[in-house]
Amino acid sequence: RTVYVNGEYLPEGEAKVSVFDRGFLMADAVYEVTSVLGGKLIDFEGHAVRLKRSLDELDMAEPCSKDALLEIHRKLVELNGIDEGLVYLQVTRGSDGDRDFVFPAEDTPPTLVLFTQSKPGLADNPAAKKGAKVISIEDIRWGRRDIKTVQLLYPSMGKMMAKKAGADDAWMVEDGHVTEGTSNNAYIVKGGKIVTRPLSNGILHGITRKAVLRLAQEAQMEVEERLFTIDEAKQADEAFTTSASAFVMPVVEIDGVALGAGTPGPVATRLREIYLDEAR
Ligand code: PDD
Repeated sequence: RTVYVNGEYLPEGEAKVSVFDRGFLMADAVYEVTSVLGGKLIDFEGHAVRLKRSLDELDMAEPCSKDALLEIHRKLVELNGIDEGLVYLQVTRGSDGDRDFVFPAEDTPPTLVLFTQSKPGLADNPAAKKGAKVISIEDIRWGRRDIKTVQLLYPSMGKMMAKKAGADDAWMVEDGHVTEGTSNNAYIVKGGKIVTRPLSNGILHGITRKAVLRLAQEAQMEVEERLFTIDEAKQADEAFTTSASAFVMPVVEIDGVALGAGTPGPVATRLREIYLDEAR
């Protein structure tokens, strides 16, 4: 694989980042994941805008212009022959060659790393036909989940808790209300109405979420942005998640409770189709 590090395209084995890099030492870094379908980047603009916002919120410098970022994305997709897959981008605050809680001087260059992940069958994912089983876990992450930082230890542990319980993913719950999945936004459907948590500092402002809510409205589906409890979710007709890495993923079971018929519901299935039709 050819990866990108600070201006250079290199074989992955030759790419290097300092051991003092704050992304490594302090999780002082933000990231984006953009999907690729048919060699085409999906919603690059949305991801670029959110990246800028994450950087601004953390007083981190922009590594380069949006156009330059697009160019790097495209070049990596081409160099690695990606038809279906993902482009991962990470920006860290860099390093001034030591470990310190104080940020390095403002002119310290940020570290910019990008790589691709080839995922053949991402769109025709058999997992989407089966639907995902989720467990619920307490949301103990920090309060700025709207910033896409690389502090992913707890979501990663949540995923492992799910695997251990024979499930696929975990939904995180705060004060009884579902916040989001470990790496996706969460939705339930009751009486034909799509319910999802409103945007705040408590969840990531999903790029796929935005597209899916727009598509739902265009298709005359009813959408309500409000908090919902995990108990309400277990009594829903259906549920699903959205993310750049799985698009619309039906959820068929929560904490061992089957939703509806225990198979992907009509709303989630239709939204997945509409989303992929537009993306492809
Ligand atoms: N995760 N919520 C969380 C906590 C996420 O990590 C993600 C994305 C989303 C969905 O956002 P979007 O639709 O913009 O992908 C919601 C990425 C895919 C990841 O960590 O791999």
